[in-house]
Amino acid sequence: MTRVLVVGGGIGGLWTAVKAADGGFDVELVTKTELAETNTRYAQGGIAAALFPDDSADRHFADTLEAGAGLADPAAVRVLCDEGPARVRDLIRFGVEFDRGESGLERGLEAAHSRPRILHAGGDATGAAIESALVATVRRRAVRIAERTMLVDLVVEHGTVVGARLLDEHGSITEHRADAVVLATGGSGCLYRHTTNPAVATGDGGAAAWRAGAQVADLEFTQFHPTALAAPGTPLISEAVRGEGAVLRDRDGRRFMLDVHPDAELAPRDVVARAVWRTMAEQGGAPVLLDATALGARFLARRFPGLDAVVRGAGFDWSREPVPITPAAHYAMGGVVTDLDGRTSLPGLYAVGETARTGVHGANRLASNSLLEAAVFADRAARALVAGRAPAPTLSAGSGDLRRHAIRRPAHDGVSPESPDRADTSMSTVDRERLRELMWVRVGLERDAAGLAATSARLDAWRAPDVRDRRTAEDRNLLDLARLTVAAAIARHGSVGAHFRTDDPAEAASPAAPAASVAPELEAA
Ligand code: SIN
Repeated sequence: MTRVLVVGGGIGGLWTAVKAADGGFDVELVTKTELAETNTRYAQGGIAAALFPDDSADRHFADTLEAGAGLADPAAVRVLCDEGPARVRDLIRFGVEFDRGESGLERGLEAAHSRPRILHAGGDATGAAIESALVATVRRRAVRIAERTMLVDLVVEHGTVVGARLLDEHGSITEHRADAVVLATGGSGCLYRHTTNPAVATGDGGAAAWRAGAQVADLEFTQFHPTALAAPGTPLISEAVRGEGAVLRDRDGRRFMLDVHPDAELAPRDVVARAVWRTMAEQGGAPVLLDATALGARFLARRFPGLDAVVRGAGFDWSREPVPITPAAHYAMGGVVTDLDGRTSLPGLYAVGETARTGVHGANRLASNSLLEAAVFADRAARALVAGRAPAPTLSAGSGDLRRHAIRRPAHDGVSPESPDRADTSMSTVDRERLRELMWVRVGLERDAAGLAATSARLDAWRAPDVRDRRTAEDRNLLDLARLTVAAAIARHGSVGAHFRTDDPAEAASPAAPAASVAPELEAA
């Protein structure tokens, strides 16, 4: 029987595991903590799909391309929007109870959608509803599940992935052989000081894939969500709240988004996030305000029960007063490059969900396309697995040339003249909190050449720890991904979508711009 190792228990991993088991495969599913502790569980807004009579896959396609700022891959977006409705119906069959009103499924509006098309469950608990339905579904299959088991590295023989080295809860690292490995480890929001992601989001799959030699791309495109509550843990306040009519105000009460974009608070996410960031800078770092008072206490509690509890738990009555918000790292639009069936550049290795770079998001992901992407491409990956091993595809990572950017080998004196850390020249083990601070300040919503160079030098001066436990394995992954992200940001000139260079603000990218693909040359450089 063909053995498949699925790493990650969010929507992408669970979906692939269920479908591969249904296809007769021997499936092992491993997750770093408990099965349900994933980014999927925290998704609030919902899942976008063209399911209503006044909507169409063509409209969804156009909105996704428009939000992607010219860098989304039309072929991938076509697949996403055409196959999305069928995958949402699959979710309903899996047991997800999307919210319904008198006229059927309820739908919300989020930024840059030309139609309300966001299905939600439990008001603002869509991810949790999907996660629990899929966990129940996978438990009904003969899938072997290993919790508290972390991917350390992929095992590659003769250029083919044949398994993975996994760290178990007792600290043992063992090799698990498989005919195919599917990476579904989510994103890497923990690269940044402020993130809406849970602590598990340390980019483990992407980093391991890159070390194994798989192609990764678009790492310079981190999506920052404009509205995280400015409170410990920076919890996400869904864009759906703005979709229902909440507005953003500066500390003087002015609706600043009216001056920024014709769609104001519902402009593309990168535009709103940057405007929030700049307004905060103008007011000395003080948070911007999200004003949901017009929605009323009863509506807020009914439509957003989870958020209502979070906001009130943080000490704010948002039905009476605007609440402080800040941008926070939210979603990795880049990742392990795949074809339309989840295949990476390495035979035997697949990637799905946030770990994958399918090309659907370009430089800015359209809200609520992430759960949809995971479902659509996990389903295709499972079908490709069941159909049999195909040769690894030649991947183009989008339009234009592929550029390979060498990442310099860490040097003992690897501190550039511009570096603010010039005095710190010793080769110490990476400091996670300093790395996250550096990424937030220098590689965040706005970047420039000097800051990127200084960050690159600082990162080069750190060495990865030896892997002994989960913490050290994560630190190594974060360091690798930080270096790759900085290299990609240095390589991409001009500004596009979520990548904004203050020293080069002109929109330089066109559909023919080179994709900033990063090859695994750390050791070779
Ligand atoms: C949100 O609810 O604002 C997040 C949804 C998403 O990231 O797509």
